[in-house]
Amino acid sequence: MHCVRKITNDLSWVGANDRRLAMFEGVYSVPYGVSYNSYLLLDEKTVLFDTVDRAVGHRFFENIAEALGDRPLDYLVIQHVEPDHSATLEDLLFRYPNVKIVCNAKTLSMIQQFFALDINAQVVKEGDTLNTGQHTLHFFMAPMVHWPEVMVTYDSTDKILFSADAFGNFGALNGALFADEVDFQRDYMSEARRYYANIVGKYGSQVQSLLNKTSALAVDMICPLHGFVWRNNLPDIFSKYALWSRYQPEENGVMIAYASVYGNTENVAEILSYRLRERGVKTVMYDVSVTPASEIIAAAFQWSHLVFASTTYNAGIFVSMEELLSDLIAHNIQNRTVALIENGSWAPTSGGLMREKLEKCKNISILDQTISIHSSPKLSQIAEIDAMAQSLATDFPQTTVAKPRETTVASIDPAAMFKLSYGLFVLTAKEGTKDNGCIINTASQITESPLRISVAVRKVNLTHDMIRKSGEFNLSILTESTPFRMIEQFGFHGGKDTDKFAGCDYEERAVNGVRYVPEHANSVISGKVVDAHDHTTHTVFIADVTQTLVLSGEPSLTYQFYFDHIKPKPQPPGGDKKGFVCKICGYVFEGDNLPSDFICPLCKHGVQDFEPA
Ligand code: FEO
Repeated sequence: MHCVRKITNDLSWVGANDRRLAMFEGVYSVPYGVSYNSYLLLDEKTVLFDTVDRAVGHRFFENIAEALGDRPLDYLVIQHVEPDHSATLEDLLFRYPNVKIVCNAKTLSMIQQFFALDINAQVVKEGDTLNTGQHTLHFFMAPMVHWPEVMVTYDSTDKILFSADAFGNFGALNGALFADEVDFQRDYMSEARRYYANIVGKYGSQVQSLLNKTSALAVDMICPLHGFVWRNNLPDIFSKYALWSRYQPEENGVMIAYASVYGNTENVAEILSYRLRERGVKTVMYDVSVTPASEIIAAAFQWSHLVFASTTYNAGIFVSMEELLSDLIAHNIQNRTVALIENGSWAPTSGGLMREKLEKCKNISILDQTISIHSSPKLSQIAEIDAMAQSLATDFPQTTVAKPRETTVASIDPAAMFKLSYGLFVLTAKEGTKDNGCIINTASQITESPLRISVAVRKVNLTHDMIRKSGEFNLSILTESTPFRMIEQFGFHGGKDTDKFAGCDYEERAVNGVRYVPEHANSVISGKVVDAHDHTTHTVFIADVTQTLVLSGEPSLTYQFYFDHIKPKPQPPGGDKKGFVCKICGYVFEGDNLPSDFICPLCKHGVQDFEPA
């Protein structure tokens, strides 16, 4: 019996799940099963996106028949030829002989490699489109994510990205189709990480290219070939891909993988783990003879520091550790700190051999110290283990709790607030055809999943009102090269009477339609407001991150740097006149007394930000 689920009015999931498969691709255990996704679009023309693995072909054809009804199948878009998505192609062509295949040239040649088929296909290349009535499909090549012929398809009508293998996860769908129908972070992120690291982990730069292409698109939904469809919280998965593809760790902590025959190597690994925990460092441990390599490879992509402990076996590295390291190196692991432990009853060599292998990886820093055990650890080696724990722990921020000073009066010294490491940002918004922006120093990330930020905006600013109404903004993160004129331009004038962008020779807008500042900014973050809190003079907006752009590697501008290097030094009033100077913009108020309700005419800050000139 068919088992179909609607995604939109005219798009259905017609895939199927396999919970009997022991090893995906013959190498990756899938204890929670796997889904093979296929999607059917019913527009004026009907379009099927990819087929499925042979194991679930029966259900797949029932699903297509149900979703199509009495309509013909007009197009099959083949995004990926790997047989988990194409094994039922011949059967499909037998059932729907008039279907037109849409694919790229590489796909066509690979189909001929796999199948004895003479296909008359519509061959597409980068940027080509196919109009199916109400929908326009755009094709983008994504070579090596995960095979060379891979392409993705963007439906610009419904803003859906059909992403082939990208953004998928292991695990059967179990009735839930959308990532927001399950606790993805708790139950499935580890399977998404394991899928990424093992399936496309080797091809980080190619994944980066795909991310660059998708960042230019307004994507409301992702339909991958495995796992859940993303219709909410897309930055949750985009941000993970950004980290994974750059081989940047997600978490500070130490992953310890050990190969131990009689428990002595394990003993040392465990002592090290305890010594690290005592220093406040997070640790995870894996016995490489027990835990599947795919899980340990995923963990290596997750954690910042890696320890490998192996006994010596046949004068080499223990077999399961050797396999793990070869696999890890094949997956291009980089940007990690590594420590090594070896054991050997008569000729320990595994430490040196592991070092030799890992030294070939890019940007891997291996501690000089290798702990060498002869059969079992000795009391005299506790200091060595302690020293390794200390060396690793120095990379992690230490949390020390200072004894509070005895105080009897709760006083507030405003200087303490300036010790917070504020940045400086241009916050932009729009209303109708009016663009506006202001300078703020109060933006910060509040959660990673969902990816959310907060911005506090003065209520007197026009940008504030625009964000209140539109719920959208862009935050341009200023760099140390920012000239004072830019702070003046966006910070010292009201937007109600002036055009903040007057004289700017750039017109860039993010996908949300709001302008941003590409000059003297290293990144842009687009936010969609999900909550707002009134705080007397300011509103704190809480927003989901909907898009990010990295523009340069220049250091971000801090409030401190601005005061030290950018803000002109205030000129004292002439003669013996007295006055007060605004610490924010340098405006000088001349007079003996500053009225308590005085507002700086330039930057709109109050008397608390003035000091005697
Ligand atoms: Fe799901 Fe690369 O195939």
